[in-house]
Formats: sequence, C-alpha cells, structure tokens
Amino acid sequence: MNASAPLPTERSRLRFDSLPPLSLYLHLPWCVRKCPYCDFNSYEARGSLPDREYVEALLRDLSAEAPLAQGRVVDTIFLGGGTPSLFSGAAIETLLAGLRAEIALSADVEITLEANPGAVDAERFAAFRAAGVNRLSIGVQSFREPKLRALGRIHGAADARTAVTMARAAGFENLNLDLMYGLPDDDCDGAVGDLEEALRLEPEHLSWYQLTLEPNTAFERRPPPLPPDDTVAEIEVRGRALLADEGFGRYEISAYARPGHRCRHNLNYWRFGDYLGLGAGAHGKVTLAEEQEIERRVRTRNPRTFVASAGSATAVTRERIGAPEQAALEFLLNALRLSEGVSIDVFEARAGQPVATLTAGRAAAVERGWLVDDPTVLRATPLGLERLNKLLELFV
Ligand SMILES: C[S@@+](CC[C@H](N)C(=O)[O-])C[C@H]1O[C@@H](n2cnc3c(N)ncnc32)[C@H](O)[C@@H]1O
Ligand code: SF4
Repeated sequence: MNASAPLPTERSRLRFDSLPPLSLYLHLPWCVRKCPYCDFNSYEARGSLPDREYVEALLRDLSAEAPLAQGRVVDTIFLGGGTPSLFSGAAIETLLAGLRAEIALSADVEITLEANPGAVDAERFAAFRAAGVNRLSIGVQSFREPKLRALGRIHGAADARTAVTMARAAGFENLNLDLMYGLPDDDCDGAVGDLEEALRLEPEHLSWYQLTLEPNTAFERRPPPLPPDDTVAEIEVRGRALLADEGFGRYEISAYARPGHRCRHNLNYWRFGDYLGLGAGAHGKVTLAEEQEIERRVRTRNPRTFVASAGSATAVTRERIGAPEQAALEFLLNALRLSEGVSIDVFEARAGQPVATLTAGRAAAVERGWLVDDPTVLRATPLGLERLNKLLELFV
C-alpha cells in the first residue's frame, strides 16, 4: 500500500486533545563493514559514499513530511545508522542547514550523531560540532581486542579512546558510549572490566546492551559460543551495581545516565511521542489531529530506491492505528521499559483513551507483582522489567 491511496480504516475511536512532542530520526545507511551481529538497515560502502546525493534525498523527504509537524517545533534530532560519522562534515552541515530551513527546531534542540571509532577523525568531529550536532554516540562495544575481533569490528580499543579525546577536543560536552556484554566466550570480570574502562573515559551516558542473535545475521547462521545465562545474570548484577556507584542512573532497560544527561530523543520514543523518520528504511509515528488517529510511516529500505523515490508518495508505506487496544499495547511496549514508568496523564493524552481501558490488565499485573500498585503511574516493578514480554501479554 502506498501513501497516494486512501486507507480503509474504521472510524477512529481514539481521542487526542493535544499532540505529543516531535522528534526527527534520519537514517544514514552505510558502514565500512557489516558486523556479523547487526540487523540494522546498513550496507557496506563500496567506493565513495554518495553523501551529497543522499542528503538531497533526505531533504526532499523532509519537505514532503513537514506538514505532519502540524505546527510543532522539533525537540530532538537523531542521525543514526549505519555509520553517520562516515559522512563528510560538509554533508552534515548541508543537511542540518536544510533541516533548519524547512522545519522549526526548539531553541535547545538535542542533535545526536552516531559514530564508529574506526570511522572518525578530528576535523570531521569539529565540523559536526560546528554544524550544530551537540551529542555524539560512539559505538565502542568492548575494550578487549579479542572480543572486538570476534564482533567483526573495524577498530581496536585505542581507537575508541582516541575517538573520545577527539570528541572532547571538538567541544562535545554530551557523549554516549555503546557497550555490549554477553559477548562470545564472555566472562564476568572481562565484561565488568569493559564498563570500568568506559567509566574512565567519563562519558555522560552509557548504553549497555546484551548481545542478541538477530534473525538474518551472520551470527544467527553460525552462532558464536555465548556465555550461559547464569554468567549473564552475574554480569548484570555486578555491572548495574558499579554503574549505580559511579552515579549513573538506570532509566531504561539498557540506558544509564549521569543526572541531567538522559537521551531526550530516546525518551520521546519510550514516552510514545511522535517522530518523523527520514531516510532508507526509517520508521515514523505521527498523531493526526484531524483524523484522530496514529499513523506509522515506513520508508523503502534500499538506499538507491530511497534516493530515487524520496519526496514522492511511493517512498512511504503507511499504517493507521485507530483501535484503542492496539494504541494501548504499543504505548505500553515502549513506556514500561522506563524505570520510572509514565504517568496516567501521559497515557491518556498519547494513547488517546481513558486509562480505564487498562483496568483488567493492570489488576492482573499488580497481583503478580509485575506492576507497581499506584493509581497515578504505569510502572513495571524490577521483576516486571525482567519479564516484560509476559507483562505485556496481560494487556493483549
Ligand atoms: C547503529 S549502531 C551504532 C553506531 C555504529 N554503527 C557502530 O556500530 O559503531 C547501534 C548500536 O546498537 C548495538 N547493537 C547492534 N546490534 C546489536 C545486537 N545484535 N545485540 C546488541 N546490541 C546491538 C551496538 O551497541 C551498536 O553500537
Ligand atoms: S558498524 Fe554499526 S550499524 Fe554498521 S554493521 Fe556494525 S553495528 Fe551495524
């Protein structure tokens, strides 16, 4: 189905009195090499990157999407990938200048760019900063050389340290480091050692992900020897205690921040805010004031097809959500990941329905000890966070 055809939805039973905050996600799909565990929409760059052509396509895409802002300013922007740090400083500058010309940004807009330590240099970081990027997310993964090799990474531990030094020198005051644990043949001391190394670099934010075997990846086809569940559980207990001792609050399953440095962009996803998703394979979610529905919008995945179709209706596939049950479930899927949960008011405003629709599910979840017994908030207990899928099933 494409955007030119009217969509056959039943009349929406959702009601929105206001629109949620708006974010912008831009997908930059190229990498130096495809990592064997990665199922992101990313492709090995062969030859020179068509960065100018791609930026022009992103801006055409934005022009077509801009009316969906419906008068809102953009609070956060995320340049994700792929490896956005492969793009030149000039390309990112053209992109951000083009965005500003097309859509209003809030005065304190958060603009994050993802960087791979094997694809960065000082000049480029300085140009990204000058272009308005104010948060860098660096894909470190591990500081252990054998683990980096097992993960097929293109960089060593020293490159990650250099990337942080270069980022600080370029004026970045808000840094995230991505780390993974539960790596092939992982052990507790090694995994916690990675966290200690990361903490020495004094980032403002840490994303600490358990390695998962994703469908259609090289690791799924030929699985590496992953550590047993009890080792993973021990890594989590020791790692979380260390991060808490060092002043990093865990605010989502895998996200840890120093006070005042939570990722505003990801928080908007988890609180069921709206976002325009631009670029190959990008997803967007928009609340439509007139139709009183939520629309999910997905771009074609292939970068070449995207560039050829950007800005036209054929680039986008749309799906409407008008049923309260579906909106509620999608809200909970995001919001219950947050340690502090979300207030009932936010549920009612963004899922477009009274919280009474959740009464049966909430009662069952509270009885099992998976949801806190508080009438003002929807928040998973630590046990509920561990069993999130089971908890969500109570609302289906
Ligand atoms: C788009 S990448 C970050 C930027 C850059 N592409 C890189 O890898 O350095 C997003 C992050 O997701 C995490 N990730 C990707 N695939 C994963 C998997 N199968 N299991 C756990 N974490 C994964 C990695 O920590 C990675 O840094
Ligand atoms: S560099 Fe990042 S996006 Fe690219 S393949 Fe590796 S994990 Fe995936």
